[in-house]
Amino acid sequence: MHRKKFAPRRPTVALGMFTAASLAVIMAAEPSAAASTLGAQAAQSGRYFGTAVPAGKLGDGTYVGILDREFNMITPENEMKWDTTEPSRGSFNFGPGDSIVSHAQAHGQRMRGHTLVWHSQLPGWVSSIGDANTLRSVMDNHITQEMSHYKGKIYAWDVVNEAFADDGSGRHRSSVFQNLLGDGFIEEAFKTARSVDSSAKLCYNDYSIEDWNSPKTQGVYNMVKDFKSRGVPIDCVGFQSHFGTGGPPSSFQTTLSNFAALGVDVQITELDIAQASSTAYGNTVKACMNVSRCTGITVWGIRDSDSWRTGENPLLFDNNGNKKAAYSAVLTALGG
Ligand code: G3I
Repeated sequence: MHRKKFAPRRPTVALGMFTAASLAVIMAAEPSAAASTLGAQAAQSGRYFGTAVPAGKLGDGTYVGILDREFNMITPENEMKWDTTEPSRGSFNFGPGDSIVSHAQAHGQRMRGHTLVWHSQLPGWVSSIGDANTLRSVMDNHITQEMSHYKGKIYAWDVVNEAFADDGSGRHRSSVFQNLLGDGFIEEAFKTARSVDSSAKLCYNDYSIEDWNSPKTQGVYNMVKDFKSRGVPIDCVGFQSHFGTGGPPSSFQTTLSNFAALGVDVQITELDIAQASSTAYGNTVKACMNVSRCTGITVWGIRDSDSWRTGENPLLFDNNGNKKAAYSAVLTALGG
C-alpha cells in the first residue's frame, strides 16, 4: 500500500511491454533454470537420480524426508532378491518389496527391480539343486513369478547380476547357474524376462566393469555385443560403481559410450565412493552426463549411516541427513 503510493506511475503501454518482455525471459529461462534437488536437476536432462532403499527405513522420518525430496528412482536394497522373494521353492514373499513399490507409487518415484538371477543372497534350496532341468525350470519360474507380480510397476530389471569373474579371465564366474546350465543361462534369463514383461527394460548389472581396459569389462562388452548381434533381448547395462577414494577410472566415460554404441542404455546403478570426495563424485556424474544414453544415476544409500560400507562415509548425506560437499558437486555436475 505504502509503496504503491510513492511509486512513479508507469504509462500503461510501457507497463504492458515490460510485462510481456519479462514473461518471454522467464519462459525462455525456465527449462534450464537450476533445480534445487538431485532428482529435479537430473530430470532437466531427461535423466533420473535414484537411491537404494531398504524397507526397514521407510518409518524413519528424516530418511523419508530426504528420499522424497531428492530422489525420483528407487532400487530396493535387498527386498527383491531371491532369498527374500522365494525363500522356499514355489513359496513367494513379495511383502517387503511391495512396501517399497507402494511408497514409490505414492510419491511419483519409479522403480528399478533388483535382482532376478544372482549367485548371492540365493537360498540354499537353489544352490543345492543338482540337475540342469530342475534348475532351468526353477530359474524360469522365479523370473516369471516375480516379474508378473510387479508387471507394469518396474522401469528396469537387473535380470542377471554379477555373473562375471574377478580373476582376470573375462569369463563367467562359477555359480550354480553357470555350473549346471553353462554360458547360456544368461540369455535364457533375458529371453524369459522379455516374454513375461515386454515393457520393462532388461539390464545386465555388474561391478568393476567401469575401466575399459579391464578383462571383466571386455567380457561383459563382448556378451552384450553378441546378444545384440543375435537378437537376444537386452536393453541396458548397469555399472554399479562402488569406487575407492579416487572415484572412477579415467576411462569410465569411454566405457559408457562404447557400451551405449552397441545400442543399449547405460546407467550408474549403485554409486558410492570411499570418503565421498567432491571431485570423485563430480567426475562420475560428468561421465554420465557426457553420454546421451546414460539415462540415470543411483546412489547406494542416502546417509553414510545407511551404507553397507561401514566407516567409509561414501554417500552424499552425513549421519544426520545433512548434505555433504559432494552433494553440491553432484548437483553442479548434473547441470545445476
Ligand atoms: O535380513 C537379515 C536379518 O534377518 C539378520 O538379522 C541380519 C543379521 O546380520 O542380517 C540380515 O540380512 C542382511 C541383509 O543385508 C539385510 O540387511 C545380510 O546379513 C547382509 O549381508 C545384507 O547385505 C546386503 C548385501 O548386498 C548382501 O550381498 C546389503 O544390505 C546390500 O547393500 C548389498 O547390496 C549389493 C547389491 O545387491 C549388489 N551389488 C553389491 C551391493 C553391495 O554389496
